Formats: sequence, structure tokens, C-alpha cells
Amino acid sequence: MSNAFISGTGFYVPPRVVSNHDLITKYRIETTNEWIVQRTGIEERRFADEGVGTADLALAASTMALERAGLVAKDLDLILFATLSPETAFPGSGVYLQRKLGLLDDSPKFVPAMDIRNQCSGFLYGLATAAAFVRSGAARHVLLVGAETHSAALNLSSGGKSVAALFGDGAGAVVVSATDEDRGIRGTWLGADGRFAETLSQPIWDITKRPFIPVNDQGVGQVAPDKLWAGMNGKVVFKHAVEKMILSVMQACWALQIEPKDIDLFLFHQANMRINQYVQGQLGLPDEKVPHNIQHYGNTTAATLPILLAEADQAGKLTKGKRVALVAFGSGFTWGSAIVDF
Ligand code: UT7
Repeated sequence: MSNAFISGTGFYVPPRVVSNHDLITKYRIETTNEWIVQRTGIEERRFADEGVGTADLALAASTMALERAGLVAKDLDLILFATLSPETAFPGSGVYLQRKLGLLDDSPKFVPAMDIRNQCSGFLYGLATAAAFVRSGAARHVLLVGAETHSAALNLSSGGKSVAALFGDGAGAVVVSATDEDRGIRGTWLGADGRFAETLSQPIWDITKRPFIPVNDQGVGQVAPDKLWAGMNGKVVFKHAVEKMILSVMQACWALQIEPKDIDLFLFHQANMRINQYVQGQLGLPDEKVPHNIQHYGNTTAATLPILLAEADQAGKLTKGKRVALVAFGSGFTWGSAIVDF
């Protein structure tokens, strides 16, 4: 049985920078830079321009990951796409990315494309899936992308300030490949607790209702603001995030019979700098092992981990022999961790 290792990483964020100050001056949101920085650590985020979709962001990140893996798109056996902001209700973003990658040009390769709906932990659920495909021999090269275009679906007004200030757009990608070397994805530890399904959600429609969205006399669907925009009980999410992220690291260490000090780099989902600093403190980790980029990108949900990973790669931190922990928590609730040896 082959091992599954990360053969390439890539990321892309749209060029338009939106600072906390811009939220106040351009979007007229009643907030302050101090409130956002003190509560979350976010200073700015990127917003894609109208006309740009999640698969477009993913294409740029995937192209970089393929290049760094020394592969071309037609080497792929599977595409996994983690997002909560797909182009349309269906199909998912995976098939749009497949088309944009040029897989259907000239002599088409009908590479399967699967979408993953696990929000902030989508990348880790995807990594577990990619590793299983590669280890079983069902695939040699899997492209795994986490990408989000949040800016299109944020209530960018004072009424939405508690959620809108937190999120940004971006994409990260990895290629997971087979190897006979003794390295790669050592394990993934995933969890979910559906009792909190509504605690962080964007309900938009209700499939138990007829029709699923209220329709007016002209046949036009009308979604009430509390259903249209994402809603969150931030304090409940914060408490569970801290607990489950610590638990996930300990679970991974227990399974592999290692200690946190044996891990070179901890890549935490970038939802809130305070959550991550608390987890870091509880685990007794030094600052140099816990990089952050939430200051610049905000929360890019499924994209935070692969963006952090690609940045660490480009900074020369993922040299052969380095051991990395990836940890995430989010809507569902869902969470998880992974240990990867480079
Ligand atoms: O990736 C998904 C996972 N998500 C998370 O991990 C998020 C976890 N939760 C958090 O990060 C924090 O709960 C938040 C940063 C979202 C909020 O911090 P908080 O200390 O829990 O604030 P709060 O929601 O309890 O709101 C406190 C006050 C409220 O005002 P009142 O009712 O006390 O008068 C809010 O209206 O802060 C107000 N507020 C704001 N004020 C200025 C909320 N958002 C803003 C804002 N600017 N952007």
C-alpha cells in the first residue's frame, strides 16, 4: 500500500484589499478597527470583484499547486472541492473547476469531481478522503481545493456587522500523491456534532416547506434577511472551537504516540486569532510554531488551511522531515486534525 503525501501546494487571493477602515467608509458599517482587531485579529481581507467565482479563485491556486508538484492537470485522477460558497445551488464547484483546468479540451479526461460540504473543516475532510483514495490505490494524484467567495453573500451593512467583519475570499490547493517513501499523511481525526447545526448556519431555504422558498404573487422567491445571511452564536462557537481544537491535537498525538513538542508547525484554521492563541497557550506551543495570516485575509473558511500551508511551503518551512499538524473547527459543528510528514 502506498503512502499519500502532499506533492504540491498553491494559493490565490483576489487583489482587492478591504481594510477594517474600508468597512466603515465604503460600506457604512457601524464598527471600529479596534473592535475587530481586539476581538478577532483581523486587519483586512480580500474581496473578489463581481464576475469572479469560487472556481476562478480555485483555478489559480490549483495551477500553482500542480506546477509545484511537477504535474499537469491531465495527471489528476480525482478533484475534491471544499467550499460553502459554490457558484450555484447545484452542481458544485468541482465540475466548473474541472472545465477551467482544461481537462475537457482536445482529448478529454473525465476526471471525477467531488464537492465537500464541511465548511471550516472541509479541507481536513477532503484531506482524509484524498489520503484514502491514494492509499487504497484508487488514485495516484488527487487535487484538493478549499476556496470561498464569501463577499457575495455577506450582509455588508451595519445589520450584518457581527458576521460580515469576519470573512474574506481566497483559495488554497494541494496535490495529494502516492509515494513508496516513509512520509506523508500519517492520519486524520475527524468529528461532528449535529446538535449545533443551527448555531452557525445560512439557512436560505427550507426543503420541508412547499415551496422551499416563499414565493410572491409574481412567482418571485423572497428570502427573509434572517434566512438569507449567515447567522452565528459567536460565543458558543468560540467555546466549542477551543475545546475541540485542543481535543483534536491530543487525539492525533495519542494515536501516533507523539507529543506536541514533536510537531514542527501547527496550522490552525484562521477564524479568530484569540481562539488560536488560547489553544496555543493551553498546549504550551512557542510562537514560531504557530503562524497566522488572519490579519490579512480574515476567515476564508475551507481555504484557510491550504493557504497557510502554501505560505509555509513558500517560506521554506516544509522541508523534508518536517512534521505539521493541521487543525480546524467550524459550522456543523465539524472539526478535525491531521498530521503530515513532509
Ligand atoms: O470559522 C467559523 C468559526 N467561527 C468562529 O470561530 C467565530 C467564533 N466566535 C468569535 O470569534 C466571537 O464570538 C466574535 C468575534 C464573532 C464576536 O465576539 P464576542 O465577544 O462574542 O461579541 P458578541 O457577538 O457577543 O457581541 C458583543 C457586542 C454586541 O453588542 P451589544 O449587544 O453588547 O451591545 C455586538 O452587537 O459587540 C457588537 N458587535 C460589534 N461591534 C462593532 C458585533 N460585531 C461588531 C462589529 N463591530 N463588527
